[in-house]
Amino acid sequence: MILGVNVDHVATLRQARGGSEPEPAMAASLAVLGGADGITVHLREDRRHINDRDLDVLKRFVPVELNLEMAATKEILRIAVNTRPDMVTLVPEKRQELTTEGGLDVMQGKKAVSNAVKVLHDSGIRVSLFINPSEADVERSREIGADMVEIHTGRYSDEKDEGRERELTRVIKAVKKALDVGLLTNAGHGLNYYNVSRIAEIEGLRGLYIGHSIVSRAVLVGLERAVREMKDLIRTAENGRI
Ligand code: PXP
Repeated sequence: MILGVNVDHVATLRQARGGSEPEPAMAASLAVLGGADGITVHLREDRRHINDRDLDVLKRFVPVELNLEMAATKEILRIAVNTRPDMVTLVPEKRQELTTEGGLDVMQGKKAVSNAVKVLHDSGIRVSLFINPSEADVERSREIGADMVEIHTGRYSDEKDEGRERELTRVIKAVKKALDVGLLTNAGHGLNYYNVSRIAEIEGLRGLYIGHSIVSRAVLVGLERAVREMKDLIRTAENGRI
């Protein structure tokens, strides 16, 4: 099973100061060194984290699968076609949301999504649809002509106890349906070090897409060394003072 690492939050941290660090491309290469099989970024219409330049640099830099998450809008479609990532994941996008809240509305939005799939396919880009764990949405994704689906695990991650078991059953059913209709099948959203195992156990899954928990842990496991290096610099400078 592949692991695609989403580095959006590295850009979020950069945007907090509007400068140039941390650099998402450097984070991407460290993720690859750690074993990431893919790198994901979401180019949002408001460019709140990843921007056009990041996508361009990552496209040239990333030696593994580059997955571009995007809304099916004209502007972003044009950028996708020009950049040619290895795959695109179509997601719903709301300006006010903190993260992608639900799966695509593949019923209401069927026309826009179908059109986007066609445009991307014409450019040789594989397309995944980010959908809720619903067998009906899997069927609609197949009708639309997607190559893959990514089953939204956000509710599974948010729930506890019986609620979590119920959501897990929905995810498993959706995965099974997607495999039955011949779609490559991924899962993601809200997965962390405590809840990933039960999803990773699902047979037939092609990959998992994870961002927040990995970047959050990186801040903690890397902080000790970062402070030590700064202390060393300060101490060396103090000792060298005349
Ligand atoms: N998959 C999709 C389609 C997403 O939109 C996101 C969030 O950007 C993720 C996976 C990763 O979710 P998380 O950051 O909660 O791991």
